[in-house]
Amino acid sequence: MISKKIEEAINKQINEELYSAYLYLSMAAYFAEQNLMGFHHWLFVQFHEELEHAEKFYKYLIERGGQVKLQAIKEPDRSWNNPRQAFEAVLNHERHITGRINELVDLAESEKDRATFAMLQWFINEQVEEEANAQEIVAKLEMVGDHKQGLLMIDRELAQRK
Ligand code: FEO
Repeated sequence: MISKKIEEAINKQINEELYSAYLYLSMAAYFAEQNLMGFHHWLFVQFHEELEHAEKFYKYLIERGGQVKLQAIKEPDRSWNNPRQAFEAVLNHERHITGRINELVDLAESEKDRATFAMLQWFINEQVEEEANAQEIVAKLEMVGDHKQGLLMIDRELAQRK
């Protein structure tokens, strides 16, 4: 049986992942409004990935006999004014999520919950990839600056995401 502390923390993480999905869906719409459909595609794929992350935690909690308690998802931030600011927001958000995963790992250790600790290893690796992907796009957007041609090249590249 899973401890109440772990159950509560996983329920909170389900909400964090669903918020991530909501944030990226909001950002996808922002890019669609500007006809940058490659950026839109990349973020729409990311929206689905975040739903899968929420689903992994959800299924794990049920498997361990825990109780799923869904909480309200807050309205996503939409304060970015250009593509670079948007992807800086992605990177900052992913760093925040990495921090949440690390806190979960610490909790699993202190609760001596080996199964939760093992399950979280997938997320530790995933966060390395999530941050690296966002970092790479931020770096490219910094490189092209205000040049529309460069932005369109990145847009075409992001359209290839599987
Ligand atoms: Fe679910 Fe992008 O971390």
